[in-house]
Amino acid sequence: MTELNVAMIGYQFMGKAHSNAWRQVGHFFDLPLTPVLKVLCGRDENALSKAAGVLGFREHDTDWQRVVARKDIDIVDICTPGDSHRDIALAAAAAGKVVFCEKPLANTLSEAEEMLGAVERAGVLHMLCHNYRRLPAVMRARELIFAGALGKIHHFRGCYLQDWIADPSFPRVWRLERKKAGSGALGDIGSHVLDLARFLVGEISEVAGMLHTFVKQRPLPGTSTLAPVDVDDAALALLRFDNGAIGSLEASRFATGRKNHNRFEINGEKGSLVFDLERLNELELYLEEGKDSGFRRILITDPGHPYVGAWWPPGHLIGYEHSFTHTVLDLVRAIESQSLPTPNFKDGVQNQRLLEAIERSSERAFSAV
Ligand SMILES: NC(=O)c1ccc[n+]([C@@H]2O[C@H](COP(=O)([O-])OP(=O)(O)OC[C@H]3O[C@@H](n4cnc5c(N)ncnc54)[C@H](O)[C@@H]3O)[C@@H](O)[C@H]2O)c1
Repeated sequence: MTELNVAMIGYQFMGKAHSNAWRQVGHFFDLPLTPVLKVLCGRDENALSKAAGVLGFREHDTDWQRVVARKDIDIVDICTPGDSHRDIALAAAAAGKVVFCEKPLANTLSEAEEMLGAVERAGVLHMLCHNYRRLPAVMRARELIFAGALGKIHHFRGCYLQDWIADPSFPRVWRLERKKAGSGALGDIGSHVLDLARFLVGEISEVAGMLHTFVKQRPLPGTSTLAPVDVDDAALALLRFDNGAIGSLEASRFATGRKNHNRFEINGEKGSLVFDLERLNELELYLEEGKDSGFRRILITDPGHPYVGAWWPPGHLIGYEHSFTHTVLDLVRAIESQSLPTPNFKDGVQNQRLLEAIERSSERAFSAV
């Protein structure tokens, strides 16, 4: 059994989610290679050394450049804000490492294209962490759609709603700064909706967008000094798919009462399905079956459902963290077979192209009424 040494950059929200996934995956799935939490990287020595202990890393280092160049590192796992994705990915590719990167791939399309060019030139495997694809219910939705159960798809309706900045006194954290985050709700959570739309329905060829910032200044963290918010608080878009389907996207951090409401509804000529992250073990399915047909709730926890057989008996539910475990599982399998996993940097570039097209379109005038 060969080991796969992981170097992770960033150790907060996604650092915690990814390290949990790397630790868990071999305990539940039969893996060809064993992931090892080798080195954790960050900027603050004290906080970093504490995080390395808590998350289970063997070593830590405040210099990610040094770590990425190490011969004993196999995978570089990027869990930092978007402003550092490009530099880390370029260095990792040049050092011949597998590059696993959080979404959105970069802060701009040109950075994303540069990253794709770098991994392709270096001939290294790459993966983008759109983890929601790996939920059993989402995978099952795809199986149903691709098997033709819904017939030709007409509608995709995706929303991702949160409310964590609805209070205008909430501080101007990095997610509200364009230089660090690239965009606001659009790139942070709208990018997930676009990824699911592409995964489940197909490529999107045209968009029309609207971005809105409700609170244009906020206090810097821990102070009363106001600083500008130069990203969107909410984003809306209309989508036209290559295959004739049409769709909509709504992403907001101002949807009071909604915490992590990532939901899609897909309507085809023969039926529909609905997924809601807040009930992630379920799918609602409607198939035209005669007089009493209607939406029914299906629990996606049977051994035959994607990924589920490795976990618990039917009806014993799984959670948010499993989406990351399944993502790293598929990355390890791809490394074993030396095949490119999905979604990868090509998907990241396409996602970024859509984000930028929505932004561009939002700058155009609306029809006055
Ligand atoms: N897949 C998902 O569902 C999901 C969810 C949340 C965040 N994300 C993405 O994950 C990434 C990180 O987000 P997060 O929520 O974990 O952020 P976070 O603020 O919780 O953590 C960011 C980490 O990066 C470190 N960091 C920041 N700049 C750095 C630099 N220049 N060099 C080294 N370390 C640096 C910070 O110290 C911190 O440890 C972002 O791209 C974000 O969009 C994805």
